[in-house]
Amino acid sequence: MKKELPSSFPQEILPDLISYLKHLEGKGIRSLYLDDIEESGPFEQPSSTSAEGGEPVPVTAIRKDLAELEEGVRACTDCPLHETRTQVVFGVGNPGTKVMFIGEAPGRDEDLQGEPFVGRAGQLLTKILEAIDQKRENVYITNILKCRPPDNRDPQESEVRCCEKYLISQIELIQPKLICALGRIAAQWLLQTKAPLGTLRTGEYYYQGIRVLVTYHPAALLRNPQFKRPAWEDFKKLKAMLEASP
Ligand code: URA
Repeated sequence: MKKELPSSFPQEILPDLISYLKHLEGKGIRSLYLDDIEESGPFEQPSSTSAEGGEPVPVTAIRKDLAELEEGVRACTDCPLHETRTQVVFGVGNPGTKVMFIGEAPGRDEDLQGEPFVGRAGQLLTKILEAIDQKRENVYITNILKCRPPDNRDPQESEVRCCEKYLISQIELIQPKLICALGRIAAQWLLQTKAPLGTLRTGEYYYQGIRVLVTYHPAALLRNPQFKRPAWEDFKKLKAMLEASP
């Protein structure tokens, strides 16, 4: 619904206000609370040389940059999780993909094998991908945290703050057309909100101009089979979006 501005509204600030609201929208913020504004960081004018407007980066170059980034993450000791990890779990897949899947954090199997989503939840994700005609190796899969939290507890905010720079770089390098947030932790980070998953699943959101689709975490589907049907609807939507995207 269009909102009318009061006649006393200073028209001269309108272009800046619109730019600022677009900036917030690009960060996935569609409802405005004071906290959102304070947390959304310093405002930068949208750049006219966006990645979309520029020359496409060759996949080999992205692969090389990702490998360099991964090397840095393997040496990371920025948070206490490095003390208990077996291996860093960086991410796998095709850096030239249109779609990136983001989960929460490595579990036991992932920590042992050094690859995201290889345990029971991961096997379910692989099956779901096959059901929408996507091969696991043709998409990109990663997590919010690159190291396993002990006993698979939820990531702590301090751990997310330490680790997010790696995910931000992965997204910047890969520049997917679509991001699929697997579960609450990924969705809340991407959209910088504390809203529950049930609310986020149904909205239309963007992270830095990239469309974000929110769905259940595959582990939640294993625990709650009643979520499988709505999750299937989400994945059908994702399939349609991928087919429609150039
Ligand atoms: N759960 C996640 O969120 N990520 C994994 O890699 C495995 C399980």
